[in-house]
Parts: sequence; C-alpha cells; structure tokens
Amino acid sequence: MSRFNKLLVVLLVAALQSCLGEAAAVDLERATSSSDTTKDWWQVAQFYQIYPRSFKDSDGDGIGDLQGIISKLDHLKDIGVTATWLSPIFASPMADFGYDISDFFDIQPEYGTLDDFDQLIAAANERGLKIILDFVPNHSSDENIWFKKSVKREKGYEDYYVWHDGYLNASTGVREPPSNWLQAFRGSAWEWNDERQQYYLHQFAVKQPDLNYRNPAVVAQMKRVLTFWLNRGVAGFRIDAVPWCFEVVPDAEGRYPDEPLSGYTDDPDDSSYLKHIYTQDQPETVDMVYQWRTLLDDYKRIYGGDTRVLMVETYSSLDYVMQFYGNRTTKGAQIPFNFQFIVGGNGDKNNTLLNATGFVKIINSWLSQMPAGQTANWVMGNHDQRRVGSRYGEHRIDTMNMLQMFLPGVSVTYQGEELGMTDLDISWADTRDPAACNSNESIYEHFTRDPARTPFQWSSEANAGFSTNSSTWLPINPNYVTVNVETETAADSSHLKLYKQLVTLRQTRTLQYGSTRYAAVNDNVVAIKRSLSGETSYVLVANVLDTSVSAVDVATVLYATGSYRITLGNPEANATVGSNVTLSSLALEPYATLILESV
Ligand code: GLC
Ligand code: MG
Repeated sequence: MSRFNKLLVVLLVAALQSCLGEAAAVDLERATSSSDTTKDWWQVAQFYQIYPRSFKDSDGDGIGDLQGIISKLDHLKDIGVTATWLSPIFASPMADFGYDISDFFDIQPEYGTLDDFDQLIAAANERGLKIILDFVPNHSSDENIWFKKSVKREKGYEDYYVWHDGYLNASTGVREPPSNWLQAFRGSAWEWNDERQQYYLHQFAVKQPDLNYRNPAVVAQMKRVLTFWLNRGVAGFRIDAVPWCFEVVPDAEGRYPDEPLSGYTDDPDDSSYLKHIYTQDQPETVDMVYQWRTLLDDYKRIYGGDTRVLMVETYSSLDYVMQFYGNRTTKGAQIPFNFQFIVGGNGDKNNTLLNATGFVKIINSWLSQMPAGQTANWVMGNHDQRRVGSRYGEHRIDTMNMLQMFLPGVSVTYQGEELGMTDLDISWADTRDPAACNSNESIYEHFTRDPARTPFQWSSEANAGFSTNSSTWLPINPNYVTVNVETETAADSSHLKLYKQLVTLRQTRTLQYGSTRYAAVNDNVVAIKRSLSGETSYVLVANVLDTSVSAVDVATVLYATGSYRITLGNPEANATVGSNVTLSSLALEPYATLILESV
C-alpha cells in the first residue's frame, strides 16, 4: 500500500471509529430519501478512471497513449460510462508517472500531442462521452520552467515555490532543514538547492517541488491552467493531492513549526511518523477549491455547455472531506471522493474478513455525514490502491461492483475493475513506482503501487492485446488469459457481463431517484433497499462471509413487504434469475449476492 495513504488510513480509521463506534453496537439501519426527479448529468453518471500509461498502446512502444484511448472509447460506451477521468497526460519527466508536470499546457510526447488530445475530445463527443483531466495543483516538476526561474530568482518567480534558508546547527556547524516535515514518499520534505542556496519544500518526491499558494501569481497561474483545458473541451477535473496545497504561515521570525509525532510508527522516514497538522488540511485549501468551482461555473455561464465537475482527491478525515462540498453560501466540488471503501474497514491492508457490520459502517459513514442535498459517490479503487479483488477477496469482486452500482449517487470505476483484474506481485527489479523506489528491496512491497497499475487486459492475445511491443512498461498479469474483455464478453457469465447488467439496472428511476435503507442483518448479511413511489423496489442482499446462512429475515429490517424475485446474482449465489424468494426467510451461499425486485 502506498506510503502516504498509510497515515491517512490510520487517521481515517480512527475518525471512522470515533464517529461510528456506537453505531456498531446499536442500530445500523438508516434511511435517506430524495424527492427530486430531475438531476444534472453528473449526479446519475458512471465515472471511469483511465490510467493512460496502462490502458492501450497504439504505437508499439509498450506504453499506453492517447490514440490507444481513442481506439478503445467504444469499450467505455459499451460498459455504460458517462465520463472518464484520465490520470495526467501532460509533459513530464515521469518521476511520478505524470504527477510531476514540466509543462501544464502540453501533452507528454510518449502519450501524443495536443492534436491527438483534440481528436480524443472529438471522438468522445461523437459518442456522448465526457473527458475529465487530472489537475495537479500542489506541485510541478523541478524541470518546469517556473521552477527553473524560481531557482534563479527571476523577477515574478522568486516566491513561486516554498523556499527557506534552513538553520545552521550551532554545535555541528552543519546546515539543517527548516523543519522536521516529511514527504509522502519517505524522508525529509526539504531539499537543498545548491544554485539558489536555499531549501525548497516538496511534500512528494524531490522532483516534485510544492507550489506556493500564498503567492497570488501562483493562484492566478493555476486558474489559467484550468481555463486552457476548459477551452479544449474538457468536462471537468479530478484534483490531485488537494490537502497539501496550503501549508501553515511561518511565524514572525520566519520559522515553520515542527509537526508532532503521531505515535503510529517508529520509522522516522515514514510520512506517518508525524501528525500533519501544519502541512495538510488547512482551511485555505477548502477555499481554493471553492474558487475553482466558481471558475467552472462562470465558464459555463459565459460559454454554455453542460456543467463542468470537480472531483477532489483527499484521504483526510470526513469532517474535512465534507467541507469540499461547499457551505451555505458557496459551492464546492460536486464529487469529493468517497474513499470509505478504501480506508474504512481494516484500512486498505486487508478487508477480506470484513463482516456485514463493517460494510454497513462504511456505507453509513458517508451517507450519515454528507451535507443535505449533496450527491454521494462510491470509489472502490484507483491507481494508488490495491485492486478490489486483492483487497476484498476475489469472491467479492462482483459483490463490490453490485454495491457500487446499487448505492445512491455517482459510481467511479478504476480501469479493469469491470473485468475483476487483480494485483500482480511486481519484483524489485520490475518496480517502477517512485514511492517504492524511494525505499529499498526489503520494504518496497510495503509501498509499491505498481501491482494495480499493470496494463489493461483486452484479449487473450500476446500482451493481453495491450501492446505489440515485446515488453511492456510494467509486466502483464498472467491471468489475462481468462481475465480480459474479449473472453469475458464471449463467456456465458463473467464479471464484465454482470457489470453491464448492473449498469442497465442503475438506469432505472428507482436506482437513480429512490430512497435508500440499509442494515447489517447479522454478521454475514448486508441488506439494502431502494424504493420510489410508483416504481419497482429493489433489494440487494449480500452474504459477505465464507459461511452459508439460512432463514435470514431481511423483510423486517428493510420494512420490505410483498413478494420479490431474483433480478441478478453473482455466481457464488448459485441462484436462478426470475425465481421468487421469501424475504423473511432467505438462504444464502457463502459470498452470495443477489439483487431482487418487487413483483
Ligand atoms: C495523488 C496521486 C498519486 C501521486 C500523488 C502526488 O495522490 O493519485 O498517484 O503520486 O498525488 O501527485
Ligand atoms: Mg505507446
């Protein structure tokens, strides 16, 4: 698991426990209701994350690219995607696979050109698909011209980044960093620059200097970046590493305060060694997101078109995350990512033993704390996390897709989860993730994000149909022979087939507009009901454990009266679609998940 998420996971689990500690013991049932019957496009959308490096290689260099994405847009259409967000495609020395941007206004040559990007927008528009870009506001590459100018103290760029002299240690005579701050990828967050004779702050890799958000010129520059891509037709932005944007203001002597020890680890290089009270989750960061929302709304007002959306990446505690939705007077991001299925439960270490109460706590954590009138969203994984099948167990792959599509609000699928792709163990020699490479061979597995970044599996041909090159930038999971689009499309039943059925189901008025009731019936069974007056009601029952259950009364906890029949089931359920069930006395095989409809 990725290093910087580790602390966040610890913090979140703590936060989750503190706000849900009682819920576990008492009533886990909760209802949400909605009466509105008109929604904006994004509120009922199915989002999909493409990791461009691993999606489809068109030119045979073993690396995915924009023409590759264009050639596979029909797959997105086929699985019902409304909008896709792309991990960074901008010019970059690839010290963090594009999260280190050397030119925010250009495309990385190995991915294509601005012309390819315009073609992508046009091809997506033809299919009614929206393209969302990754906006990386916290840092640039050290190869960005802004940084080079800042190193030289060129006029206007002196304070573009966070610079500091550090301090001479009186006893040793050695210069030391300004504070004890740690970067997310291990080690000090301060790096000495010989040319400028100062330290600069980098909360991620050394090659990712932090932009200085206390400088209005930086704020204006980054708004220019947003406008540039809006002008090229994007439907919005996923905003990267948001909590890091602002740091605390130094004191009157120019001193940055040390952060306190967290007590979570005794590894002093590990980011989770400190509590990041001065470098993350600052109030100014929330306001910055509100400003970006204003920019997007103004853009729509001036140029028309559909609403542009913001998706916020933050693993912070929920009270901070929820602020991104906005407040009474100001709108924020439509989609502050709900990472509860990633950080909740037992953290992203291992949720294979999570029971029904654990699942319901996760669901409840978001729905009970989301401000009224906002839209929920469900993110099961991304390029920084282990894959769903590896985190929750392969028997629960379908269950997780079923939950994601059944719960109210927006779904966000990471590429390959529709196929049930799983993690591939990557050797130290094959490791590419800078977070892992910053460690050493004995601990890299603890930090690497590579296992979830392997190339997408299109077919059972060589290299899974991803590339014609003899090798690919990360190895391909050998399970591609059966886990791939082509084979799963041809099969009678597959993760992909079920995913598509879920997408269709999700388009019913009940799932789009209906109210939601959910409960842990016992240790094994999660039950969720979606209903809307005058429409068919749906019930999801999931036995999340490896033991079978019988005579389970789901009807009482869900207030579900009347008869139900099976609409969809995972193979583990061994059930016949169309057959009637008795909600007050259900029998479920290990890991069985069913979706039922009222008759
Ligand atoms: C985000 C990205 C991650 C990247 C980091 C620094 O967390 O998802 O991949 O390494 O930001 O930009
Ligand atoms: Mg290529």
